[in-house]
Amino acid sequence: MTQDELKQAVAEAAVEYILPLLEEDTIVGVGTGSTANLFIDELAKHKHLFDGTVASSEASAERLQGHGIPVYDLNSVSSIRVYVDGADESNDHLHLIKGGGAALTREKIVAACSEEFVCIADESKLVKVLGDFPLPVEVIPMARSYVARELVKLGGDPVYREGVVTDNGNHILDVYNMQIVDPVQLEGQINEIVGVVTNGLFASRPANVLLLGTQSGVKTLKA
Ligand code: 5RP
Repeated sequence: MTQDELKQAVAEAAVEYILPLLEEDTIVGVGTGSTANLFIDELAKHKHLFDGTVASSEASAERLQGHGIPVYDLNSVSSIRVYVDGADESNDHLHLIKGGGAALTREKIVAACSEEFVCIADESKLVKVLGDFPLPVEVIPMARSYVARELVKLGGDPVYREGVVTDNGNHILDVYNMQIVDPVQLEGQINEIVGVVTNGLFASRPANVLLLGTQSGVKTLKA
């Protein structure tokens, strides 16, 4: 199977996984990226079974609305039953690196508000130690150079993702060569740098379930 076929398989598996959770008042959190897009297309087949969604990006909101699925402002919903999203890397503890699509801040907010976080990914995303994928950090534009200098002190090599402005009007630094031995500790440490909005480590709130597309089928991993 190609990587795209593995992504399609996990998108279908995610819909199967959440089907028993869907009721007429259920709100589903929806992530961002190519795997999440496939999930949206599968979810659309069951849009009559639930109330609506909260999206983690303008792009996903547009795709959901294109399917006729309601998209709510997070402030107007009291709870999100389940959040489904992709990842750039996951370790065995379901600590993730996210933000390859620059949507990390809204993704982290929606994940924080959700009862359950189901991560969907192809097998190339599962790693022993996080950090081969450069760690995205969303920064307030005027603080970009300052934050970059602070990230160098932490041992990373930050690179400005030129031309990218997030849905929140901010910039992204991609941090290469970070030693991520303790993802929970590093997530907090980077977030303490003034000017950082958030970073792409999802460790203090990891995924609850990882549906991993492999050549021998979709595997269900729990932390
Ligand atoms: C976007 C993300 C995505 O979930 C991550 O980049 C994975 O994307 P894809 O499913 O296209 O591989 O965090 O900010």
